[in-house]
Amino acid sequence: MTAPGADGPVHPSGPSARREPDDRTGPTADRDPDRRALPDYPLTLRLAGRRVVVVGGGPVAERRVRGLLDARADVVLISPDVTTGLGTLARAGRLTWVARTYRTGDLAGAWLAHTATGSLLVDDQVAADADETRTWCVRTGDPAASAAWVPAVTRAGDVLVAVTAGGDPRRATRLRDGIATSLRTGRLPVRRQRPGTGSVALVGGGPGDPGLLTLRGRALLAEAEVVVVDRLAPRAVLAELDPDVLVIDVGKAPGHHAVPQDGINALLVEHARAGRRVVRLKGGDPYVFGRGSEEIAVLRDAGIPVEVVAGVSSAVAVPAAAGIPVTHRGLSRGFSVITGHEDLHTLPPTEQHTIVLLMGVGRLGETCRSLMAGGRAPHTPVAVVEDGYGPGQRVTTGTLASIATRTAEVGVRSPAVTVIGDVVRLAPAWAQQNPPSPAPVPDPDTPAPAPERNPT
Ligand SMILES: C[S@@+](CC[C@H](N)C(=O)[O-])C[C@H]1O[C@@H](n2cnc3c(N)ncnc32)[C@H](O)[C@@H]1O
Repeated sequence: MTAPGADGPVHPSGPSARREPDDRTGPTADRDPDRRALPDYPLTLRLAGRRVVVVGGGPVAERRVRGLLDARADVVLISPDVTTGLGTLARAGRLTWVARTYRTGDLAGAWLAHTATGSLLVDDQVAADADETRTWCVRTGDPAASAAWVPAVTRAGDVLVAVTAGGDPRRATRLRDGIATSLRTGRLPVRRQRPGTGSVALVGGGPGDPGLLTLRGRALLAEAEVVVVDRLAPRAVLAELDPDVLVIDVGKAPGHHAVPQDGINALLVEHARAGRRVVRLKGGDPYVFGRGSEEIAVLRDAGIPVEVVAGVSSAVAVPAAAGIPVTHRGLSRGFSVITGHEDLHTLPPTEQHTIVLLMGVGRLGETCRSLMAGGRAPHTPVAVVEDGYGPGQRVTTGTLASIATRTAEVGVRSPAVTVIGDVVRLAPAWAQQNPPSPAPVPDPDTPAPAPERNPT
């Protein structure tokens, strides 16, 4: 993009006269290989409201400008022509575009200069002028001759990691990417060591297998100072927490009473108000029969910053663990998730609709009777999947007419997800437990039927 009325060239600094900085091959007056060996002094800058002059208008300059605008710098861009993206930013008033080539004096008032023209002559001039005015100057693509340079950066929450790698930007980028992955997966010790603002993250932990916990959930656990955990959450991840993380178990287990919801709400508020980062680790998804919205409402009322991290719900994952898709072309066009027979009237009155029942295994017989009374065929397949993804995973299948007897015979226990509908036929357990009835044996006294005539 070329600005109308741009001044004539002083130095050839526009994209037309420019190679992108990484392509440069020519000589330079100020290039000293020994400077690479000198120790650097790392520093981060607060640039908000401070002037930064960027010389050059190509893609490298655009990347730099975007980073500087993120830091709220007052950006002055000097180049006769610029990329479409830079032009858009200029028209939006996000920066000041001086549409001409660089001139000595352009760095007046700048705290930092950035030159990315692709012309060694111009870059040398900008760097020399910057030295003159004691302004730090980044010469993109030439770390040996640069007074300052931009590291490869990754951020995780309030943690910022900056990497330089001996003047090799690709090496720095790859290293940065490795660190970013470790940060995202919660493998680095990012937990705060100084008190700060308290917050609560409601993390859906999935149906119990740590592999089904999201990366965001893991990253928040790595930052947590307090973890308030449910019985059906992926408890194996607790062993990976630092010993000084406070773990509060609010789930009901044999010999251990569940903390009532009011008590859980009070705990979350108390620890967040004390300035701690709290993770509320729940089973499945926080908003699927997980009382997540109630906890959020209490926290918002208390003015506490909250985040909700969706989780893999047992409503779809536990059937999947048993080989049952909740929808399947030709068998089921949708599914409903309910918790008991009192919700049956809410279901669409169609056979091609899967019913997923959470909780309520104790009332399964009652639920099946209600469904049959409501018109569902007694031979409708049913599967009960206990302890999905756990060591005790077991699948019991039957029909609306038979499942209550079968589950009583084998002693089905909570947690379990019940699936009702033709999709159950796709489960390997259905084929094993419900083999097709053998073909009737022909009666030797009955004469065999005459072979069918070929109609042609
Ligand atoms: C209070 S609900 C919470 C559901 C959760 N928010 C979700 O999205 O999965 C608890 C019910 O989820 C089901 N459930 C959760 N995890 C399970 C698992 N690993 N195996 C079988 N059922 C499970 C059971 O029906 C259990 O009674």
